[in-house]
Amino acid sequence: MRSGIVFLTITCVVLWSAPAFSAAILEGERFHPVQGEEGMAVTSHFLASKFALDVLQKGGNAVDAAVTAAFTLAVVQPRSGNIGGGGLMLYSSVRDDRVYAIDYREKAPMAATEKMFQNKAGEVEQDLSRFSHLAAGVPGTVAGLAMALEKFGTISLQEAMQPAITLAENGFLVTPRFSDGLKAREKRLKKWPATRKLFYKENGAFYEPGDRFVQKELAATLRRISANGYREFYEGETAGLIAREMAENGGLITKADMAAYTPVLREPVMGTYRGYDVYSMPPPSSGGAHIVQILNILEGFPMASYGHNSAQTIHLMAEAMKFAYADRSKYLGDEDFVAVPLAGLTSKKYAAKLRRQINAHKAIPSSSISPGAPLPYESGETTHFSIVDRDGNAVSNTYTINFSYGSGVVVGGAGFLLNNEMDDFSAKPGVPNAYGLIGGTANRIEPGKRMLSSMSPTLVKKDGKLVLVTGSPGGSRIITTTLQIIMNLIDHDLNIQSAVSAPRIHHQWLPDELRVEEGLSPDTITLLEAKGHDVVQKSAMGASQSITVKDGVLLGGADPRRTTSLAEGF
Ligand code: DON
Repeated sequence: MRSGIVFLTITCVVLWSAPAFSAAILEGERFHPVQGEEGMAVTSHFLASKFALDVLQKGGNAVDAAVTAAFTLAVVQPRSGNIGGGGLMLYSSVRDDRVYAIDYREKAPMAATEKMFQNKAGEVEQDLSRFSHLAAGVPGTVAGLAMALEKFGTISLQEAMQPAITLAENGFLVTPRFSDGLKAREKRLKKWPATRKLFYKENGAFYEPGDRFVQKELAATLRRISANGYREFYEGETAGLIAREMAENGGLITKADMAAYTPVLREPVMGTYRGYDVYSMPPPSSGGAHIVQILNILEGFPMASYGHNSAQTIHLMAEAMKFAYADRSKYLGDEDFVAVPLAGLTSKKYAAKLRRQINAHKAIPSSSISPGAPLPYESGETTHFSIVDRDGNAVSNTYTINFSYGSGVVVGGAGFLLNNEMDDFSAKPGVPNAYGLIGGTANRIEPGKRMLSSMSPTLVKKDGKLVLVTGSPGGSRIITTTLQIIMNLIDHDLNIQSAVSAPRIHHQWLPDELRVEEGLSPDTITLLEAKGHDVVQKSAMGASQSITVKDGVLLGGADPRRTTSLAEGF
C-alpha cells in the first residue's frame, strides 16, 4: 500500500508539471500514464529517467539515452543496475526499419566445469553458485553498452557516462528503497570487506534516507573507462582488479577471460499475435521463444471476451504457461553451444497441438506434462527500462547481476558488485535454480557459454509502427510478466499504466502452483481452485517499465512495485 502511495505521488508530481498533451486520452482512466510527444524514458529510478530524458531533449537518440540510463542505474541502484553483470537489449531503428538484438549476457569463465557447483556426493552447493566468487560470470554490460553506442548511438561514451560519474563522485541522496535494500541484505553483504566498506558507514551503521551516498572507487573506475574506452574494463586496470579479486578468493575469471569477452548482435525472435508483430529476445534468453509460444497458444481462445483476470482467462493462461516452461527445461540454452528448436517452439502449428490438450474446465497436473516435441530442430534484482526518441527509435533493455546485489562480492579497489549469474546455469539436471527453474544438458555449464536467461526485452509493432516497448525483471516471472503487459494491451485494452499496475499471475510448470499477486477477488480464486489449480498468493512479481504509442502520443507506465520508478516524457 505504502509503495502505491509513493508511486502515485511521484506520478502526480510528474503529471502536474507535464504539459497537457492530448488530455482526451486520459479521461475516465483509472491509472494515468505519463504522456509525451517527442521522447520518453521509463526506468526503475527517477534519476536514470531524468538523465535519459535530458539526452533525448538535447537531440540524442534512444540508444544514447539508454546507455546514459544504464550507467546511471549502475550508480544509483547498485542492487540491479550494474557494470559487473550483463543484459539484453532490443533496438528498433526507424531508419533501417529493423529490430536488432544485442546480447551482452555474461559468459562462463574458461576454467568453468559442468559439475563445479556439485560436492563429492553430487549434491549442488547453492552457496557456491550464488554467494561466492565462483558465482560470477564474465561481465558483459560495459561491452554491450559500448557496442550499442558505437553501432547505433550519436553521442560519445564520455558523454553517456558523465551523469553516472558525477553521481558516483558527488553522491546522491539515499531513498527509503536504497536504504531498506541494504538493511535487508546486511548479513550477506557484510561478509566481504570491500562490500562492507562500500555499502555501510565506517562504524558499520546503515545509510538512512536523506544521507548522501558517495562512491569514489566506482567514480574512478567509470572515469578510467570513459577516458580510455570500454576496452579498459576488459584489458586495463579494471580487468586486473577483477582478476586479482578472483585469484585471491578462489574465483575463476582471469585477465584472459576478460580480454576474450565480446557481445553479440543477434536476430530477434519474431512472432505475431492477433495482427501485431512481437519482437523479443532470442537465446541465450528463453524469453522471446516462450512469450511467442504462449501467445500462439492463447491466440486460439477469445481471451478478450473472457475478461481481464477472470478465472477463465487466468486458467487458460496458466495452462499455456505450463507447456512453455516444460519445454524451456529441455530445449533452451546458449545457441552458440546447443541447437535450440526455435522455429518449432514458435510455430503456430505446434501451438495448435498444445492448445488441443488444454481442458477449459480442468487444470492439467504438471506431473502429466513433459517437454513436447517442437520439431524440427533448427541448426543451428535485474532492471528493465524502455525508451523512445523523437524519431520513433526505441530501446527495450533488461540488465542484471541476477540477485539483488548479485553475488554480494564487490571488486576490491574498483567499487562495483559482481553478478552471480552462474546460478542461472543448470548446476545439475533436474535440480532447480534460485527461481525454481529446472534445466538439463542444453543449459549445463561449459567454458565460454552463456547461461540461460529469462530476460525478455520486447517490442510490439502493428503495420510496421511501434505500439509497445516493454519488459521486466523477476527471474522466471519475467516471461509471464511481459506476456501479461502485451495481453493487457491487445486483449483487454487497458492503458499502459493500468496494464503495468494490474495484479499478475504466474505458472512455471514446476512447482505445480498458480502464483498470484494480491488483488484478485476471492471468488476468482475459488473458481480457479475448483478447476484444480493450487493458487498461492505471494509477493509482487516483476517491475515492468513500459511505453505505448497511441495516436502519435507516447504513454509511459512506470511500475508501482518499485517505489523509485518513474516515467518521464516531453
Ligand atoms: O537472467 C535471468 O533470467 C535472471 N538472472 C534474472 C534475475 C532477475 O530478474 C532477478 N530480479 N528480480
